[in-house]
Amino acid sequence: MTQLISLDNVSVEINHQKILDDVSLSINLNQIITLLGPNGAGKSTMVKVILGLIPHTSGEIKRLANLTIGYIPQSINLNPTLPITVKRFMHLNKKLKNKDIINSLSLVEAEYLIDKSIHQLSGGELQRVLLAQALAKRPQLLILDEPTQGLDVNGQILLYDLIVSAKKQFNCGVLMVSHDLHLVMAKTDEVICLNHHICCSGTPAIVSNDPEFISLFGGHCASQIAVYKHCHNHQHDFCQKHTDFNQ
Ligand SMILES: Nc1ncnc2c1ncn2[C@@H]1O[C@H](COP(=O)(O)OP(=O)(O)OP(=O)(O)O)[C@@H](O)[C@H]1O
Ligand SMILES: [Mg+2]
Repeated sequence: MTQLISLDNVSVEINHQKILDDVSLSINLNQIITLLGPNGAGKSTMVKVILGLIPHTSGEIKRLANLTIGYIPQSINLNPTLPITVKRFMHLNKKLKNKDIINSLSLVEAEYLIDKSIHQLSGGELQRVLLAQALAKRPQLLILDEPTQGLDVNGQILLYDLIVSAKKQFNCGVLMVSHDLHLVMAKTDEVICLNHHICCSGTPAIVSNDPEFISLFGGHCASQIAVYKHCHNHQHDFCQKHTDFNQ
């Protein structure tokens, strides 16, 4: 198993406030890790520390040499007065050639958007274009900070399916911040539950039974993971309806 990045007792303090406290984890190739936690838990901070955008105060971070990372931030600021097509937006990454851009857009079923203004895209279309941009440099590690925010259920399912097929195609590792427990669990190898420190981690089955997870998120969230477990074992159709009903 190729380790892409590891954090060893990493802490981050901003303005004397501990945002991350002794966090240790590793991300491997071909692995999907989902990061869960309440608002303000430090998830985006952790993502930015992994990306090297925020310095850590203590601990150690090891990255694979020349690690390539594709990243979708939690929010992007597009200047509404600046007209820009999807193609030009993709070309902001100067190393990309037209061929790469077309390939990447077609991977996320967004080739038809290439000449559209980025400002006219729907939420789901924009997220697919951002995913295309993140995939364009064939990353070894894909980091997605709440990629399905604002999408309806079908849009969420489509995006998660695209992420899984991209992972299969590139054999990359994926670190994803998500609140869509019922949708991501079936696609996740490991869940990390963060509330400044790592409360618990492991497979969805292990985490759903962890008392710290249940006390942090409540039995409702644990049961959302439990629904997945049940589906996974036997009654997929019934549970699919059940989870859809829960939207
Ligand atoms: N640059 C900063 N200066 C001061 N405080 C910060 C800074 N960046 C983050 N914080 C604080 O750190 C905490 C964690 O923020 P972070 O954005 O990592 O949370 P999050 O888990 O991603 O939350 P959400 O689910 O709402 O996106 C928050 O209390 C936030 O106000
Ligand atoms: Mg965040």
